[in-house]
Amino acid sequence: MSQRSCLSVILAAGEGTRMKSALPKVLHQIAGLPMVAHVVKAAEAAGASGLALVIGHGADEMRKAAARFAPKAETFEQEKRLGTAHAVIAARAAISNGYDDVLVMFGDTPLIDADALTLARRRLAEGAAVVVIGFRPPNPTGYGRLIEKDGKLTAIREEKDCSEEEKKIGFCNAGMMAVAGAHALKLLDAVGNKNAKGEYYLTDIVEIASAQNLDVVATEASFESALGINNRVELAQAEAIWQQRRRYDAMLSGVTLIAPETVFFSHDTEIGADTIVEPNVWFGPGVRIASGAKIHAFSHIEGATIASNCDVGPFARLRPGADLRNKAKVGNFCEVKQAVIEDGAKVNHLTYIGDARVGAGANIGAGTITCNYDGYSKFFTDIGEGAFIGSNSSLVAPVTIGNGGYIASGSVITESVPDDALAFGRARQKTIPGKGKELRERFASAAAAKKKAAGADH
Ligand code: UD1
Ligand code: CA
Repeated sequence: MSQRSCLSVILAAGEGTRMKSALPKVLHQIAGLPMVAHVVKAAEAAGASGLALVIGHGADEMRKAAARFAPKAETFEQEKRLGTAHAVIAARAAISNGYDDVLVMFGDTPLIDADALTLARRRLAEGAAVVVIGFRPPNPTGYGRLIEKDGKLTAIREEKDCSEEEKKIGFCNAGMMAVAGAHALKLLDAVGNKNAKGEYYLTDIVEIASAQNLDVVATEASFESALGINNRVELAQAEAIWQQRRRYDAMLSGVTLIAPETVFFSHDTEIGADTIVEPNVWFGPGVRIASGAKIHAFSHIEGATIASNCDVGPFARLRPGADLRNKAKVGNFCEVKQAVIEDGAKVNHLTYIGDARVGAGANIGAGTITCNYDGYSKFFTDIGEGAFIGSNSSLVAPVTIGNGGYIASGSVITESVPDDALAFGRARQKTIPGKGKELRERFASAAAAKKKAAGADH
């Protein structure tokens, strides 16, 4: 089958009024990726080399977004929404390029998996002219019903056009179809609009093809993979299903999730075997974790690279550009942004490291802050191998701490420190014997005098 060429036509012209959003419906995200981009990924995974995106509502925004998530896709604008067949025909120029298989997909059905599409393509390879992807929803109301006779699909009847008898059919049209390229345009051009809604229904090609004695069949996909998103409740349902699938994959590939239902992945999270993720962890986009890492509870991680055997959290925040090398440690209430934490370095408590390098084996004391921003520009802090930064130090960038440099606690470091030097950046301590007692007595008698004066007023 792999030698058969395939075009995926993705319908995404609808407005999606029920989302109540300024954003076109199909650009709403699941796992940090627009739902239509999930559809594109599934099409590509099923072997589609051509991608035609049919847009309409919010066309400019859609074009801009498509350039990012599907740069190879050609966009076609459907000026008026006259129905799903009319929408497919908007991509006539792509279809007439002569693909073997044409997959029609919906931009608002983001959980469709490549297996369901591959199965449909296989039936085309076996000689079918039209393959409809069906499913059995718990409640079929609103869906087109699949009318079968002797193992062949003879028609799809939209709910509004169904007889009472037909409404009882549980096998429904998921919306997606695979059509033999050789027949596609001829079938589509034969569709009319004499139905309850006055629309050009894609589903009519089933009856048209059957009447021409072409082979028309249905395959079955899971309810979940055919879930169409119309409002934000369904969006959240799709997110939940996606997350559940991803957690299963992670666990089956060797990642321990102690409370899987509390861990949230992004569409592109990479996570190696023998990593342990504690409860309540959030992975934003762009996270790569090698093997054997420990991600402790309540950590928030995005755009970060975490090498083998690192230890992160609890309550760590790793922001874009955080790059933890082998066995590095970032502990509780620490934030790391655009910084390399080299092998075995430790950033354990209440610290901000931004625009910096922390050399191998360095130890960053509690409360250390890299002061990287003057309100206009960002500056770099370079901390050498094996350096020791005493607690509650401020490193005012640009600044370099040499290898083995030692910074006294509470320092404000504004000048670079050479290798193995000790730097103090604070006033020296002064101790005055008996002065504490004297102060205490003075404050006590002042308070007593005030109280007495207040009493005399009454
Ligand atoms: C469609 C199917 C129905 C199926 C259901 C599954 C048809 C006629 N009906 O109905 O059998 O059970 O999906 O969810 O195909 N679109 C355009 N331009 C248009 C019209 C639609 O791009 O002119 C796009 C929409 O944005 C959407 C998709 O096509 O992504 C489906 O259209 P929609 O109107 O939602 O079809 P349904 O009535 O749900
Ligand atoms: Ca729909």
